[in-house]
Amino acid sequence: MKIVTCIAPVNIAVMKYWGKRDEDLILPINDSLSATLNTNFMCAKTTILASPDLKENKFWLNGKEESFEGKRLQNCLREVQRRAKDMNPDVLGWKIAICSENNFPTAAGLASSAAGYACLVSALAKLYNIEGEISDIARLGSGSACRSIYGGWVRWHKGELSCGEDSVARQVVPSSHWPEMRVLILVVNDKKKKDSSTSGMQRSVDTSDLLLYRSDKIVPKRMEEMITSIKNKDFHNFAKLTMQDSNQFHATCLDTYPPCVYMNDVSHSISGLVHKYNELFDENRVAYTFDAGPNACLYILEKDVEEFLSVVNYVFPPPEVDQVEYLTGMPLENRKIKNDLINSLNLTRNEPGLLKYIIHTNVGEGPTSTDDHLLSLNGIPL
Ligand code: DP6
Repeated sequence: MKIVTCIAPVNIAVMKYWGKRDEDLILPINDSLSATLNTNFMCAKTTILASPDLKENKFWLNGKEESFEGKRLQNCLREVQRRAKDMNPDVLGWKIAICSENNFPTAAGLASSAAGYACLVSALAKLYNIEGEISDIARLGSGSACRSIYGGWVRWHKGELSCGEDSVARQVVPSSHWPEMRVLILVVNDKKKKDSSTSGMQRSVDTSDLLLYRSDKIVPKRMEEMITSIKNKDFHNFAKLTMQDSNQFHATCLDTYPPCVYMNDVSHSISGLVHKYNELFDENRVAYTFDAGPNACLYILEKDVEEFLSVVNYVFPPPEVDQVEYLTGMPLENRKIKNDLINSLNLTRNEPGLLKYIIHTNVGEGPTSTDDHLLSLNGIPL
C-alpha cells in the first residue's frame, strides 16, 4: 500500500492563454505568463492511495464521487504511468483511490482546474516516483495547470513540436524576486452561466481573426516587455501590460462569434475605478486582470493595499448581512477611509453586496507534499 498527498497553487495569468492548436494534447497558440499564488489562502489538495486491496479505481472531488473515466484525468494518469514504467512494477498494477478538494469555495466561480490538475499530477508523480519534467503532464489536464507546477512568475512556452514535448512551463523569477507584490481577488456576485474556457477558446479559434493577430503580432513582443518589467520590478509598466493583455483577451472574446461575454457591469466598474485611481497619482499603482468570469484579480504593491482597499470598500460596500469572512487571506492592520482621497476621486457608492468577498494574497511557491491525508488507509474519504 502506498499513500501520498500534495498541495498545489492557483495561478493568475498576466499574459493570457486563449486558444489551442491541438485539442487533445492541449497545445496553445501563444505563450502565457502568470504568478503562482500562496497556497496558504487558495490551493487544491489531493490524496492518492494505491493498494493491492482496492477492487476498483475511485475519484472524489470536493466531497462528491466522480467518474474515473474522464478523458483529462485518464490522459494524465496514462502519461505518468508510462514514464514510471520500469520503476515500480508492483505499485503500477494496483488500483488507486483519488480524493481532491479546494480550500476556497468553488461556488465563487474561481478557476480551480489549474490548481486541481497540478495537484493531481504532482501527487501521481510522487506516487510512482517519477522525476524531472511534469508540467507537460499537468498541461494534459488543463492548459493553465502547467504553470501551477512552479512557484513565482512562470511562463508557459507554447512549443513548436506537434508531440507537445516542448510545450512546458518554466519559472521566470522566484517569488522572492518581488516580495512586495500582492494580489487582491474581488469575487463578484454573479449567477449567469458562462461558457467554459475550453469551449469558449475553441469557438475563438474557429471564428476570431483578432485572436490570430494577437498570437502572431502582439504576444511575442509584449511577452518580452512583460518579462523585462518583472525582472526590473517596474510596476508601472507591468501594470500597463497586464491591463492591456486582459483587455485584449476580452476583446477577442467579443470578437468570437457568437461572442463569449465574461465581464459584467461590476467588472467594468472595477476596471474604471482602477484607471481613475491610477490617473490620480499619475502612475499605475493597481493592475486588473479578468479571466473567463466576472471576478477581478488585482496586482498591487504591499504599500498601496490598505489605501486601495478602503476605496474599494467605499465604492462597493460589503453585503449587509453579517459575513464573518468578507475579507480573507493575509491579515491587514487598519483600513481607515481617507476622506480627502474619496473626495478627490469623486466616487459614487454602489448598493451593498455587489462583491461577494475579497481574498488578499501574495505570490508563492509550487506544489508541496504533506502527511495530512484526505483518505483513510482503506481508501475512504476522511
Ligand atoms: C482565461 O486552462 O482553464 O484563465 O486548457 O481548456 O483546460 P483548458 O483551459 P484553461 O484556460 C484558462 C484560460 C484563462 C487564461 C489563463 O489562465 O492563461
